[in-house]
Amino acid sequence: MSAARPVLRAAPSPASQSRHPGPAHLNAEGLAVEFDLGGRKQRVLSDIDLKVGKGQLVALVGPSGCGKSTLLRLFAGLMSPSAGKIEVAGMAPAEAARRKLIGVAFQDATLLPWKTALDNAAFLLETADPSLSRAEVRRRAQHNLHLVGLSGAEAKRPSQLSGGMRQRVAIARALTLDPEVLLLDEPFGALDAITREEMGSLLLDIWQRTQKTILLVTHAFDEAVFLSSDIHVMGTGPARILETIANDLPYPRDAQTYRDPRFSETEARLRELLVKSHKGAAP
Ligand SMILES: Nc1ncnc2c1ncn2[C@@H]1O[C@H](COP(=O)(O)OP(=O)(O)OP(=O)(O)O)[C@@H](O)[C@H]1O
Ligand SMILES: [Mg+2]
Repeated sequence: MSAARPVLRAAPSPASQSRHPGPAHLNAEGLAVEFDLGGRKQRVLSDIDLKVGKGQLVALVGPSGCGKSTLLRLFAGLMSPSAGKIEVAGMAPAEAARRKLIGVAFQDATLLPWKTALDNAAFLLETADPSLSRAEVRRRAQHNLHLVGLSGAEAKRPSQLSGGMRQRVAIARALTLDPEVLLLDEPFGALDAITREEMGSLLLDIWQRTQKTILLVTHAFDEAVFLSSDIHVMGTGPARILETIANDLPYPRDAQTYRDPRFSETEARLRELLVKSHKGAAP
């Protein structure tokens, strides 16, 4: 349970005290998921407690297959837990999704193959608000594609885009409805290192301007440390949150952040926890 879970503070600062303003925007308590595999139950998540304050940007890391995407699907309202409680903005995730409070970019981009990048980015807006003119829908979609660095690629279909470009279209699409919550599943996984850093800075910029609540799944230690305030580390067999690292690096973060001694301390701690969780042992 969360009460017993250690929360590490590499270097306490006044900023860390305002880390959890108000009630949790994303809230999971005692969450469990079991999949039915032809009569045999596979427990994937067990006793997950996770709270994300409104306007927080937090990272979720853990070994491949431990259940990160499953947890995101629960928060997106796409599936129900076998046990426990889950809420987004104080309501059932499916209701929050219905009210368009949630934007999701999945690991595999899931674009509509027959639509162009622009039409994929515009798709949700068209269906969500039929009163908007076609020109306005295109303008907003174009703006979001520009935000993710895809100006000029509007007319391309998913098969004509690289994996990283498809991921960026998915992020543009997640932004379309201006949701309060962004659930991002390895959104930069297919990008080269420099573009990944650029996209990370862009995400920070969007977050600082809009104060969206962001839950980011990533396998990249440096990305987790550079972007997030809390890093939730998951273990396997079945998955639970092993530890939450409170990352006290101050915002705004920039190239200097990588040189802050707290950056390497937090990254080293994260690496240590993940090595242990890969071995299936609690730290
Ligand atoms: N619909 C499903 N039916 C049965 N098992 C599933 C289903 N979805 C996921 N699983 C299983 O649940 C476990 C967790 O999967 P999940 O996709 O959440 O992992 P992950 O942490 O996101 O992994 P990765 O880092 O590789 O993306 C895996 O063992 C997977 O095989
Ligand atoms: Mg996954």
